[in-house]
Amino acid sequence: MTDIHFETSNPTIPQTGEKQKVVLAYSGGLDTSVMCKWLQVEKGLDVVAICGNVGQNVANLEWVKQKALAMGAIASEAVDMRAEYAEDILPKAIAANALYENEYPLLSALSRPLISKYIVDIAHKYGATYVAHGCTGKGNDQVRFETSIHALDPDLKVIAPVRGWDLLTREDEMVWAADHSVPVPTTAAKPYSIDDNLWGRAIECGVLEDPWAEPPADIWTMTTDPTEAPDVPEEVTIAFEQGKPVALNGQRMALVDMIPELNTICGRNGYGRIDMVENRVVGIKSHECYEAPAALAIIHAHQALETLCLDHDTLHFKHQIDQKWAETIYDGLWFSQLRAALDGFCASTQTFVTGEVKFKLYKGSMTVTGRRSSYALYDFNLATYGDGDTFDRTASAGFIELHSLPSRTWSKVQGPASVFAAQKASAQIAASQLDHLNLVENKKENHGESEMSATA
Ligand code: ARG
Repeated sequence: MTDIHFETSNPTIPQTGEKQKVVLAYSGGLDTSVMCKWLQVEKGLDVVAICGNVGQNVANLEWVKQKALAMGAIASEAVDMRAEYAEDILPKAIAANALYENEYPLLSALSRPLISKYIVDIAHKYGATYVAHGCTGKGNDQVRFETSIHALDPDLKVIAPVRGWDLLTREDEMVWAADHSVPVPTTAAKPYSIDDNLWGRAIECGVLEDPWAEPPADIWTMTTDPTEAPDVPEEVTIAFEQGKPVALNGQRMALVDMIPELNTICGRNGYGRIDMVENRVVGIKSHECYEAPAALAIIHAHQALETLCLDHDTLHFKHQIDQKWAETIYDGLWFSQLRAALDGFCASTQTFVTGEVKFKLYKGSMTVTGRRSSYALYDFNLATYGDGDTFDRTASAGFIELHSLPSRTWSKVQGPASVFAAQKASAQIAASQLDHLNLVENKKENHGESEMSATA
């Protein structure tokens, strides 16, 4: 008999004499403030709040920490995670050129495992049985938090109040807050859901839910409108050592300092905006916008250096590894055997990814204008068509003789006629697909008509 036990989220909490503890990932916003009180009132738990600084736009984390205490938390910790994020997490993302679906630099996905690690540490420190977060039931972040937490401590139980409580609208929350002396925000509801940190900014919801609607200008805060960016290009140089950025425009600096500076430089040139429809882990397609000027510039510069320093086969194979790395992180599997193994591959490939890349920023574009490395596999004498050519052209004839051997054999036996036969077959498939499409369209129309007649 198998002994599989499924932990349901929002577990029933046993009432013992002494109150059990819950660690709440606290942001200071309305949701998690209500939650802080709700966990005490509705679940009878002692709340320990943790607010992490991953480089988000929050003026005063100490204030957030104090707010949790004012809401009745028995303890509250503000943790500066920026250096660890920049030193331990982001270099791995850079080594893997991490862009989910070729576009999104995973800023939210990368911060969640780090925050989770601190949540678990603090749960252990205070002997908490539960952890709680404020993520919705439709997003990726719940998956990432909970998968990370379960991987780090399978015994911790997760409470996700938003998935279970009956405070369905902001108004419901405001009423509950007022009834339980939780201060309600005086500012109007924000029109978007924003998540930001050192690696960039995610903007979703509101008018962005229509993928045909052009994002309104007010969603962008890190980047100048490209049409209003300076009329002269700005050149930037990044130096890498073993795949990690170590200097900006000739000045050595820690990544934690380089990223904000590069955000400013790229941002003022209108570079770093992303507008995409992405596939969430929970099966939904969603329209998302991001601003990630430094992340995109660093990744594209890093890719340019890899073209110089990695050999043909490694580079091509790494494209697949990079894609898998991004998917793995997006899916919340930072703490996994697979990520560790993929990191091993990436780390091994970075040994000689040392050198410089320069690029020009101009009205929203970033163009690599040069790359160099003392370990470059680029050989001028092999590549040149001018003086100094050392490539043995006579060897090419024999190479092509063998390279084309399968093609010649195929041609003799099956002949190019088989290509035409295959083309014909695929045209037939396309035609039958068209028939199917017409059928679907007709069905839709008929359905629409019957709906109309039903309402008439
Ligand atoms: N779609 C992105 C991701 O899944 C961004 C999520 C941002 N989270 C938020 N609460 N707005 O990684």
